[in-house]
Amino acid sequence: MNTGTQALAKRAEAMIDALASISAEPDRLTRLYLSEEHRQAATLVGEWMRQAGLKVRMDAAGSMRGELPATGGTPDGGRRLLIGSHIDTVIDAGRYDGTLGVIAGILAAEDLRARDVTLPFALEILAFGDEEGVRFPQTLIGSSIVAGQTSDLRLDATDAQGVTIRDALLAFGCDPDTLDSEAYESRDVAGFLEVHIEQGPVLDRASQPLGVVSAIASQGRYRLRVKGEAGHAGTVPMTGRRDALAAAAQIMLEIETVASRYARESCVATVGEISVSPGASNVIPALAEFSLDLRAATDNARTGAAGDIRERLRDIGVRRGVLVNMETVHETPVATCAPRLTRAIADAIENVTGTEPVTMMSGAGHDGQSMVNLTDIGMIFVRCRAGISHNPLEHVEPDDMAHAVLALSETIQRLARDDAPNS
Ligand code: GLV
Ligand code: MN
Ligand code: MN
Repeated sequence: MNTGTQALAKRAEAMIDALASISAEPDRLTRLYLSEEHRQAATLVGEWMRQAGLKVRMDAAGSMRGELPATGGTPDGGRRLLIGSHIDTVIDAGRYDGTLGVIAGILAAEDLRARDVTLPFALEILAFGDEEGVRFPQTLIGSSIVAGQTSDLRLDATDAQGVTIRDALLAFGCDPDTLDSEAYESRDVAGFLEVHIEQGPVLDRASQPLGVVSAIASQGRYRLRVKGEAGHAGTVPMTGRRDALAAAAQIMLEIETVASRYARESCVATVGEISVSPGASNVIPALAEFSLDLRAATDNARTGAAGDIRERLRDIGVRRGVLVNMETVHETPVATCAPRLTRAIADAIENVTGTEPVTMMSGAGHDGQSMVNLTDIGMIFVRCRAGISHNPLEHVEPDDMAHAVLALSETIQRLARDDAPNS
């Protein structure tokens, strides 16, 4: 590795460290949408963008946007190539999920300026504030706004403290009434590129630093509510109880069974959150509410599994005398990456790493799922140690980060050449 690449690796590592130090909790990384920590991270990202020579603003959803104007004599009809990822995290997160894509965009823009590359389109680096959907029962808010996908956004949805998205936006200094004006028209956008850690083991096992994403899996988030009847834990006999939590436990096992029936389509189902009411050791639970995250390689497999789960819920509800309801929180179909972008990414990776890259599907959700409604999407995956993610043990080698920045910069240069007026 030459000294330039080594220096890039060091800078990427320092930027990741700086963002990882901004957390709501002293001993673990948690940075939720529109929180004080989000504000600090956004401010830091904005400073880096300015230092990289970008024109910076925060949009009405709290996303940071840094623009590098087109440099060609005949700019590409005022279009812009969007590049970005997110700076929110899950609870007790790793430090690379999302943040790596944001810093890679900034460093690539800096690299392009340093090389004096002629760009027929403007570049816009985006740092979205909500990809994880942890604070509110909504997800991909920042990218949905840019993509003009506001019809599903419920500003009155609340976090665990009862704060609505509308009030959180206002407290963050954003005007929720101007969200619609932040969207781009497809004709004004040249594509969306994202660098992201793989969050799985494929690249690590293949000893490859970078990979190309072909598509992002079909995904659904649901909220299940089981309503039974509270009673005295010591006096109500086991027969005839309408225990909401026991029914929920049985439903969860059925969910596992259904998902494994769709294993050939890479179906995965996760219950990651549950609350029980009234929540006392000597009271039979009256209410159990839990989340369901369901994904698959095809939309048919995901909707098929969701349909099977609904059927099983009805049976269990009748047998146990409880009311079960499954509400759809969010559904995203498979997001296919555009061949013209995957080709440019694959060629760029081959040029930077000297090896033909692996092409793979993403099981994890990404901002591309909303951006695909606006424009072509393309993603570069970066190897992470043992495929571990959504976990503080998440790790990416600094050299791999440097290679990701160079591959992103090279991809942009290839797209610029393709789009140049005389090409
Ligand atoms: C985001 O990380 C998701 O895939 O849920
Ligand atoms: Mn992510
Ligand atoms: Mn994540």
